[in-house]
Amino acid sequence: MRNARILGVGRYLPERVVTNQAMTAFMDTTDEWIQQRTGIRERRFSEGWTGAADMGLEAAQEALAGAGMRAQDMGCLIFATLSPDVDMPASACLLQDRLGVAGMPAFDVRNQCSGFLYGLAVADKFVKTGLYDYALVVGAEVHSTGLDLSTRGREVAVIFGDGAGAVVVGPEPDEHKGILSTHLHADGRFAEKLWLECPASRLRPRLTEDMITGPDARIFPKMEGRYVFRHAVTRFPEVIREALDANGLMPGDISLLIPHQANLRISQMVAMGLELPEEKVFNNIQRYGNTTAASIPIALYEALAEGRISAGDLVCLAAFGAGFTWASALLRW
Ligand code: ACO
Repeated sequence: MRNARILGVGRYLPERVVTNQAMTAFMDTTDEWIQQRTGIRERRFSEGWTGAADMGLEAAQEALAGAGMRAQDMGCLIFATLSPDVDMPASACLLQDRLGVAGMPAFDVRNQCSGFLYGLAVADKFVKTGLYDYALVVGAEVHSTGLDLSTRGREVAVIFGDGAGAVVVGPEPDEHKGILSTHLHADGRFAEKLWLECPASRLRPRLTEDMITGPDARIFPKMEGRYVFRHAVTRFPEVIREALDANGLMPGDISLLIPHQANLRISQMVAMGLELPEEKVFNNIQRYGNTTAASIPIALYEALAEGRISAGDLVCLAAFGAGFTWASALLRW
């Protein structure tokens, strides 16, 4: 079987910058609290009628241009998001329409913070097996319209931001280069530790006034922060070591670790556990917050733009998020 590799990367970030100080206009919080607990200084919020597919389009076009390819060259389109434009159809189909390429398969991956790596793993297998030569993988999130921006929702609301990233995956003739491996995991026992309960098909009716305005406001994401934190700092290193073991490599072989940007403290603890020096871990959560499925391709784009990745480097991508789900991908650039 041939290998697959990333041929082009793109990203899109809305222009509106929302600083921690600006968040204090909506809720009882402080810049100091947010920076100390999460590392975040500011995030981007989209404006007007901007959906995940609109932002995904911008990122996809940049990734296609970087790969020197056209949308019609893609064999399939995979869209990772927890904030799809609408409940149905898939944001992948909406993006496909915007790209003007009907016919190819297009589908969403709903695996939250691990969604991009799940999508990348599928694209990798499609290309490796020869089913398709090229695949477009997009991660895009519009969190800003779904957060409880009052004091009640502050623990979750200060963490998330909007953004999109995309990659083009294609064949790599050298078996020692490209995507070396992907590892995916999930444990649904923890589904309610980080979730968005309503509207829900299992409820009759799916949406009520009480879900929106009641004291619980069940239409907003809920998180047991400390619980999520504890699992994240265990699962990240575990799935990174799994990737290294599968390839006969050691943490010291990693040139750059790009973790999903969940929380700066999580990234720092993971780096410490693996004994990776600061310069080998890429973080940009300070500027964008947690953009969930978009965070890894946005970070990959910036790492490349900053010259932090060279040919032959070993790049490790890793994620943990709601589900719980967690995943890694090891790339020889
Ligand atoms: N501003 C000010 N105070 C706040 C805020 C806020 N935005 N949010 C919560 N507080 C208060 C709490 O109410 C609490 O007050 P109390 O002591 O009077 O009850 C106090 O701050 C301390 O709360 P803790 O829960 O102890 O804060 P902690 O240090 O655990 O930090 C945080 C909270 C940042 C959410 C942390 O638990 C965390 O990072 N968890 C992981 C969450 C995460 O990374 N999620 C994303 C990963 S998964 C994914 O990406 C989908």
